[in-house]
Amino acid sequence: MRKKIIAANWKMNKTVGEADSFVKAFLVEIGQENSVDVVLIPPFTAIPKVSELLSNASHVKVGAQNMHHEKSGAFTGEVSAEMLRELYVRFVVLGHSERRALFGETDAFINRKVKAALEASLCPILCIGETLEQRDAGQVEKVLETQLRGSLADLSPAQIAETVIAYEPVWAIGTGRTASPEQAQEAHAFVRKVLAQLSDAETAARVRIQYGGSVKPDNTATLMGQPDIDGALVGGASLDPRSFAQIVKAAKA
Ligand code: PGA
Repeated sequence: MRKKIIAANWKMNKTVGEADSFVKAFLVEIGQENSVDVVLIPPFTAIPKVSELLSNASHVKVGAQNMHHEKSGAFTGEVSAEMLRELYVRFVVLGHSERRALFGETDAFINRKVKAALEASLCPILCIGETLEQRDAGQVEKVLETQLRGSLADLSPAQIAETVIAYEPVWAIGTGRTASPEQAQEAHAFVRKVLAQLSDAETAARVRIQYGGSVKPDNTATLMGQPDIDGALVGGASLDPRSFAQIVKAAKA
């Protein structure tokens, strides 16, 4: 059985003070709930505060939104896996569609980061997904397969098993337009099929595949009820502690 994993991708939102208020309110909302893995992914500047507040809450983990693949050096504006580990970060989002579209990240570049994350014992949350034009042109499977093969190149089955995949159709991100549970399930089943080709069936069956794109408290349960949907990567609806806690609870149900 794959344990569900629900992650809050705050993107470029929340100051340290706002993160502090969120975590305190959120911990009250979710209580001791630990049947679902929960990850808070603040901007870099709020990570130390969030980690500190979660130091006695082992059921909620901390993630980062990006990292560089080199260990150190002349890479102005970047942070390394080791720097994140020092702040008790356990997960790192890689290849988010905003980074692909706005910052020119390619599958080959993302692949280096995935490897560096795994080598540093950080769990990558690898994001993939098609644009609306690609869906309308019937290219969903081709796009997902290319992104998976490129981003996961040269990984061992054990490394693939440790990676979380987030299927995030670009047309559903921040638009209020969610993929239907059937559309999402179809894509997730395809992702698992490609993962089996890249490793083996047993490994693919262990990988957790999150859905992302306008996940809200009221659409979580039906999405999570699909056989190949193992969690959610939540943007907008993760900014409010009550709404994010409702999503966590709905994922458990
Ligand atoms: P959204 O963002 O929930 O606001 O659609 C999801 C994401 O980009 O991870």
